[in-house]
Amino acid sequence: MHLKLPFLILFSLISTHALGVEYDPGIGEEINEVCAGCHGEFGQGGKEGEYPRLAGMPALFIAQQLELFRDRKRPNLAMIEYIDERQMPAEDILHISHYLAGLKLNTRLPAVDETADDFDAYARLLESKKLMQIPRAEGDIETGEKLYKKECASCHGSDGYGDEKKVVPMLAGQYTDYLWRQVEKLRNRIRIHDVDDPKDELLDAFTDAELADMFAWLSTADD
Ligand code: HEC
Ligand code: HEC
Repeated sequence: MHLKLPFLILFSLISTHALGVEYDPGIGEEINEVCAGCHGEFGQGGKEGEYPRLAGMPALFIAQQLELFRDRKRPNLAMIEYIDERQMPAEDILHISHYLAGLKLNTRLPAVDETADDFDAYARLLESKKLMQIPRAEGDIETGEKLYKKECASCHGSDGYGDEKKVVPMLAGQYTDYLWRQVEKLRNRIRIHDVDDPKDELLDAFTDAELADMFAWLSTADD
């Protein structure tokens, strides 16, 4: 039981009541200007997964990761100067994590007539940035779907898009290269997969080929 305590404290820290502040989308948007340099204006991520997608992640998951980066419990050299105590107080973590959680990305561009009189090229450009399309990853989709549904869906959601209530991140809609980098970190215990059961490394039981199949299926979720 004692293992759960730090996370209970964490949950209460980012709840609006404990901080005495309400989530303010305006402040969230302002802070996001810093994040956008790497993660994109709409939290869509970039550079083929060097910067992960953040849009639509559970707010509490984003907040937890920011606290882990800040407290040097999850290594992230790229972010450390933006996330030290001084630059990112607890209330800013609240604003930015809710802001990013609320961003929705499309999986396809709506059809428009580019020759129409009212065609707005700039609006179209913005729309295309709000898009998340994961290129098809190599592997056997059918085997991957079965394995995923049996082994991962209970936490990461039947569709792969995560679980807000259980505070589990999405795997569908995330860059495949990013997922592989995290697999390495989870396998090497640089990150902890399940805080309720830190010794149980859920990925140790799977070969790279099996994970590739699961990631192949996940990469088709947005098709
Ligand atoms: C200089 C580039 C840079 C900036 C600016 C930056 N990040 Fe990141 N961020 C990264 C990188 C790189 C990673 C991936 C680290 C890894 O591979 O484990 C990351 C990872 C994350 C993750 C973990 C996502 C996951 O699914 O595991 C979160 C959450 C995050 N960033 C939030 C933010 C927020 C919020 C801001 C703005 C306050 C921000 N980042 C600013 C580079 C950046
Ligand atoms: C018991 C619940 C549970 C199960 C089962 C589970 N996961 Fe996770 N997974 C999590 C949680 C919670 C996190 C976030 C960990 C953290 O806080 O850093 C996570 C994170 C991840 C990440 C990193 C994602 C990111 O954005 O940082 C990957 C990759 C991952 N899981 C893959 C898998 C795969 C593949 C399976 C099935 C073989 C699986 N997980 C099964 C709960 C689970």
